Amino acid sequence: MTGLPFPSVRDHPATPQGLVGLPDQFGRVARDLRVSVTDRCNLRCRYCMPAEGLPWLAKPEMLTDDELVRIVAVFVGLGVQQVRLTGGEPLLRRSLVDVVGRIAALRPRPRIAMTTNGVGLDRLAAPLAQAGLDRVNVSLDTIDPQEFADLTRRDRLHDVESGLKAAAAAGLTPVKVNAVAMRGINDHSVAELLQWCLDRDYELRFIEQMPLDAQHGWDASTMISAGEVRTRLEEHFTLTPLPAADRGSAPAERFLVNGGPQTVGIIASVTAPFCAACDRTRLTADGQVRNCLFSRVETDLRGPLRDGASDEDLAALIQGEMWRKARGHGIGTEDFVQPDRPMSAIGG
Ligand code: 5AD
Ligand code: SF4
Repeated sequence: MTGLPFPSVRDHPATPQGLVGLPDQFGRVARDLRVSVTDRCNLRCRYCMPAEGLPWLAKPEMLTDDELVRIVAVFVGLGVQQVRLTGGEPLLRRSLVDVVGRIAALRPRPRIAMTTNGVGLDRLAAPLAQAGLDRVNVSLDTIDPQEFADLTRRDRLHDVESGLKAAAAAGLTPVKVNAVAMRGINDHSVAELLQWCLDRDYELRFIEQMPLDAQHGWDASTMISAGEVRTRLEEHFTLTPLPAADRGSAPAERFLVNGGPQTVGIIASVTAPFCAACDRTRLTADGQVRNCLFSRVETDLRGPLRDGASDEDLAALIQGEMWRKARGHGIGTEDFVQPDRPMSAIGG
């Protein structure tokens, strides 16, 4: 893979005085905050973690609920309009329902979404919706029990299925399903997964596997590209591309399936990056702001916060981090270096 559109720009410009909101030097403005509420997970997806798991954050390293909600409030004051809770697996944070309720009480109220693997969602979908959660994305890569167990190294497909049902019943709609195709594991069953989602009215989106696994085992040549997913789906379905104007900052190229109205999304996060339209910012479970999934630097908020920083101080730190956001991730270019922090500790 050569000639990806965005060279990585990793210089650190001085942050201008008097910034409003969360702009960067390339004219993008962050409005979508992703909060990793825990780095732990109950699955072990091969594209994410090694079988034995990872050294998890210790409790004192993690933001408390009060700290987390306070920082989210500062982001909302800086123009964030949507908060997505991620992990690891966000449902493993015991206080999650309470945290959602507290975020929903902020003004202006942000939309609240969650990316989850679905395990435990059968029990939590209704209380979360009640507390103010608006939508969920459930990660599900295959509906073949053997492939699921192979890919996630856990036999939990039934839990995910009941979690999805509970999410739809609780009104967390449209229920979206995220899938990553891995060669030799689930790449031959992508059409089957789409049919399964269509039958249940879940909106499926495929995401290209990104170099964010803790094992650093990603390889461009083995990744299933967006184009390959499309070809495989088109063996079974007619896909009609929706106009790009409907897409906004959303990264998925969307297609009507068999004339619609149902759709499927394909996110070419590696082969056709959407960095130029990115409106995301990230907060890790240990209180670091990241301006990109692929950043190799981050800004600590936890230390200053525990040392008595004011909301204005925190806002200035967040603005500084966002201002220096690189133009693009540069995967495939010579100077691309995978970040040390894996996806499970950043949040999707
Ligand atoms: N590449 C692409 N997607 C990934 N996810 C986790 N790791 C990777 C990766 N290396 C997905 C999960 C989930 C979301 C948080 O990101 O499947 O849907
Ligand atoms: Fe857990 Fe998500 Fe990583 Fe799978 S991809 S191991 S569900 S954090």
